[in-house]
Amino acid sequence: MTTQPFSSLAKPWYQRPSVSVAPEGFDALLADTVALLRRAATHAPCVFASSLSAEDMLLFHLINRERIAIHTFALDTEKLPPATLTLWAAAESRYGATIERITPDVAGLQGLAQTQADSAIYESIAARELCCTVRKTEPLRRMLTGKAAWVTGLRRAQSAGRASVPAQVWDAGFGLEKFNPLADWSDEALWYFIDREDIPVSALYATGYASIGCEPCTRPIRFDEHPRAGRWWWEAAADPGVGTSSECGIHVAHKDVVGSVQ
Ligand code: ADX
Ligand code: SF4
Repeated sequence: MTTQPFSSLAKPWYQRPSVSVAPEGFDALLADTVALLRRAATHAPCVFASSLSAEDMLLFHLINRERIAIHTFALDTEKLPPATLTLWAAAESRYGATIERITPDVAGLQGLAQTQADSAIYESIAARELCCTVRKTEPLRRMLTGKAAWVTGLRRAQSAGRASVPAQVWDAGFGLEKFNPLADWSDEALWYFIDREDIPVSALYATGYASIGCEPCTRPIRFDEHPRAGRWWWEAAADPGVGTSSECGIHVAHKDVVGSVQ
């Protein structure tokens, strides 16, 4: 049996950027982002899907600071990390604004429990996708029904599969306009603005997490891993072709728009 050398186990964890000087072109980037949020609001009713990620906290900050008429909600999959729930309450208190809690359908959860054990998500992509469908995609579809537009925190820099994310696009999957105001934002711009405006973010970013979703499907990463390597990591381990392209299904229309996802 071969053993791993200790040095490979002792790699430092990922650390989020700390940027004290505005990246080049930052003011124009910020102005464009606020303008896009205002344009999104003209497609009433417009809603903002927040996962309480750093990106989404930044957007929540702008929506509240600029008093833009966009209603914020989050999909509570009932599998969120405690740190996300703590941030949720803290954000509502800091901004004096509600983040509407959208929960899975009770009958859907019962059906899921009768179909598979919680641990089945690690055994097949189909089982994992079923969990995402019941806990995320269907509640999202319910929330988006009757809306004219939705806003997300997607960024092109997040993964190769998101490299062509447009700032505004018709979302054929859900049948409404989709706005991605942070599409152009780099990691540096994101963290520069978060620190400058003292925007609250999840405590998990201080412990090696680069991307945060449900607790069973999110892990911290080492400094040299891809930022999304901590999401559904076992799928990439089982099939290296999957790489870091795993998605939960709520942005599939985007995949159709940009073609194949690496
Ligand atoms: S995911 O598809 O892999 O889970 P990711 O965590 O990168 O997505 O988040 C991308 C965007 O999807 C977020 O900025 C947010 O707009 C939306 N999103 C993801 N998870 C949720 C959630 N639980 N509730 C609301 N919106 C979400
Ligand atoms: Fe289920 Fe994981 Fe998808 Fe969350 S991310 S809905 S726990 S499979």
